[in-house]
Amino acid sequence: MTTEHDLVLVVDFGAQYAQLIARRVRESRVYSEIVPHTMPVAEMLAKSPKAIILSGGPSSVYEPGAPNVDSDIFTAGVPVFGMCYGFQAMALALGGDVRRTGRSEYGRTPVHVVTAGTLLAEVPAEHKVWMSHGDSVVAAPEGFSVLAETTVSPVAAFENLDRRLAGVQWHPEVMHTEHGQQVLSHFLLNIAGCRPTWTMVNIVEEQIERIRAQIGDRRAICGLSGGVDSAVAAALVQRAIGDQLTCVFVDHGLLRKGEAEQVERDFVAATGVSLHVVDAEKRFLDALAGVTDPEEKRKIIGREFIRVFEAAEAEIVGEAAAHGEKVAYLVQGTLYPDVVESGGGAGTSNIKSHHNVGGLPDDIEFELVEPLRTLFKDEVRLVGEQLGLPAEIVWRHPFPGPGLAIRIIGEVTHDRLEILREADAIAREELTHAGLDRDIWQFPVVLLADVRSVGVQGDGRTYGHPVVLRPVTSEDAMTADWARLPYDVVEAISTRITNEVREVNRVTIDVTSKPPGTIEWE
Ligand code: XMP
Repeated sequence: MTTEHDLVLVVDFGAQYAQLIARRVRESRVYSEIVPHTMPVAEMLAKSPKAIILSGGPSSVYEPGAPNVDSDIFTAGVPVFGMCYGFQAMALALGGDVRRTGRSEYGRTPVHVVTAGTLLAEVPAEHKVWMSHGDSVVAAPEGFSVLAETTVSPVAAFENLDRRLAGVQWHPEVMHTEHGQQVLSHFLLNIAGCRPTWTMVNIVEEQIERIRAQIGDRRAICGLSGGVDSAVAAALVQRAIGDQLTCVFVDHGLLRKGEAEQVERDFVAATGVSLHVVDAEKRFLDALAGVTDPEEKRKIIGREFIRVFEAAEAEIVGEAAAHGEKVAYLVQGTLYPDVVESGGGAGTSNIKSHHNVGGLPDDIEFELVEPLRTLFKDEVRLVGEQLGLPAEIVWRHPFPGPGLAIRIIGEVTHDRLEILREADAIAREELTHAGLDRDIWQFPVVLLADVRSVGVQGDGRTYGHPVVLRPVTSEDAMTADWARLPYDVVEAISTRITNEVREVNRVTIDVTSKPPGTIEWE
């Protein structure tokens, strides 16, 4: 990527901000990559970055164990932008005065622009920013102009246009900071001179060229799960090499209502991909018969998935061989956060061990094609839209590989799956109807299949099953909060489920955050 686009390196000081900053840089249409703060400056410079951003980190440069910033980074002639901790580190390294004033600033803070300069041009003189620091810069390094102040920080932003160095005490990348994106763009475009070439059209075109160069006239195979990552990866590869790609969709019978059709009909119609469907519902249900333990369910589903996928793969490889062709590539929807979190190595990542359905075989002899390796999830969605994929696939909520099997508490049977599919479809429809799809991270509906609860309908008593609604908000599924759905939406879901799904006579809602609860019930 670095040859075609200007590269911005985001130096990660171990706080959670680096990925967010990297995404914001890309929103300004400049390509970014994250590097650890332990990377020697020479190695960073060897990547020929057009600019470097020092992210936030500990709240103080004087904190025990606070990471060191090698001052060579400021004298290499590469523009540098310091944020929060990075700002203090820059001030300190260049001879400014950073003091433990005993007055910290956390959260939303009013800032006053003293001189707009280039960095804060056209930003209102009074606005609010997100702060998180203990120490303060009390004097800027020589040659720097002070651009902003707060009641606590006499130097809250500075720049030196000759040296193309700038910084802010606040976090421009977070939503709570007003004009943050504008300030970041000023640095990137007007101070560092980066070219804004990172657009969806360019990304798609370049990836297509890259895939063609990698695969040539050989053949590739791609497993589809119904989720956005594999769908977008497959669609890109299909654009690049057409019929040389065969997709495999294992229908394990544990998907939600309409999802298998979405893959088999809508995805194929949108992409023209050649699809090999394996209808394996019976096989999966036979293997799951009598099983109630969640981990056992997962193991069985993972094992069966590998067997079915391997058989399909062998068939496709065999057919290709009969025509004198070799299937040499496996397409995978690895995303940039997977790459960063697994150490960010430059090499090809391992076959996803947490692959959606439980892992692919270890002895695979394919070379990987990973067209989404440089992209964040939101970019993958935009690429999906650019490629004309159905909105239901592009905006699909995360869904576990074992599917509805871990949302039926008790044994998984065809009838129970049908009940859950109906209830789940109603919840999804009503959420969409209320326009809340993108506010909710995930919305499991859980069937308490072994619980019976008394109800009354018409003249008679009923003895049905309860379902649990589990709508959550989250950033990354590591933590989550129960979603405060409007009561009228909850009411519509409850009324429709009890009216339309005969076997369900009680609808409950889960109001537990994660931790202590998990998102799924099993
Ligand atoms: P929990 O329930 O641990 O879930 O809060 C966190 C995220 O992981 C998903 N999940 C799974 N995904 N296979 C998957 O591919 C699984 O066995 C599995 N279990 C949970 C869950 O939907 C949520 O997004």
